[in-house]
Amino acid sequence: MSMKNSEAIRLWMAMEIGPYWIGRDDEDPLSPAAIAQDESEQRSQEVTQVSLSTQPKQATVSAKVAQVPQEQIPQTPQRVQFTPTQRVTTPPSATVKRIDASAPAKEPDSETIARIHTANWQELGSMVASCQLCPTLVQNRLSTVFGTAEPTARMVIVGEAPGRDEDLQGKPFVGKSGELLENILRACGLKRGSDVAIINVLKCRPPNNRDPQDDEIRACSHFLRRQLEILNPTVIVLASRFAAQKLLNTELSTGKLRGSVHKVEIAGRSVPAVVTYHPSYLLRSPVAKNDAWRDFCAAKDLLVQSA
Ligand code: URA
Repeated sequence: MSMKNSEAIRLWMAMEIGPYWIGRDDEDPLSPAAIAQDESEQRSQEVTQVSLSTQPKQATVSAKVAQVPQEQIPQTPQRVQFTPTQRVTTPPSATVKRIDASAPAKEPDSETIARIHTANWQELGSMVASCQLCPTLVQNRLSTVFGTAEPTARMVIVGEAPGRDEDLQGKPFVGKSGELLENILRACGLKRGSDVAIINVLKCRPPNNRDPQDDEIRACSHFLRRQLEILNPTVIVLASRFAAQKLLNTELSTGKLRGSVHKVEIAGRSVPAVVTYHPSYLLRSPVAKNDAWRDFCAAKDLLVQSA
């Protein structure tokens, strides 16, 4: 079986044999459209090879598999297990010069918005993995960081954006701030995963961990909203200024917003939300840990009350 063009290029890159060159007017072989084309050619090749095979039994089975339309493949239910690492399909910046990294982020078109609003957890993760809305972030990311969620989780923590460790591993809060967050949760008797889902406002790492920009937050907000609809939490912890300001539609600071129970509208339901400091801020300002502890206790109380 021949290797797909896009697969071959990714292999060269992984082995650091690259770079590969693209003519100014040629299509990028790693663009989602080119990969889809590759895959469809590969599928039709498989069907042809199978029908010419000398082993009729196997051939029939393989041909059937190759022809099963995508929508007939059973999907996992809406509340889905842990999301796997999503390595991005775009190559690192050194190899492709065709994205204007200084261009502003753009919002998804109406067709994509409609797909986001009906996507299940896995479909949404795949859409995020191939998202190209924020050129600067696309150019810099190694992975997209979709979030971690288990079907039993009733609390959702919304952070800011992946940092270096998260970008490397494709999972949220896995660095120093993640360690602190996990300790806080453990101290509250909550387990990351089975009790608490973790997502971010942005799914891609901003260069040098700079603040998320308004256009990026707007572009990514459709994914964030849909994640919250699917997760359907009992309590939300807004663990960053950007999460609080976006979801509460305010410009107030974390200091002003914390200490009260707010409401976030999710699919027509009013979900209680607590604002707290971002774990990285707690690492820099340990005196704020006392306040953060109160915030998490308040969130846990809301969870217990609603049980
Ligand atoms: N900070 C965040 O806001 N999110 C992460 O996933 C990691 C660090």
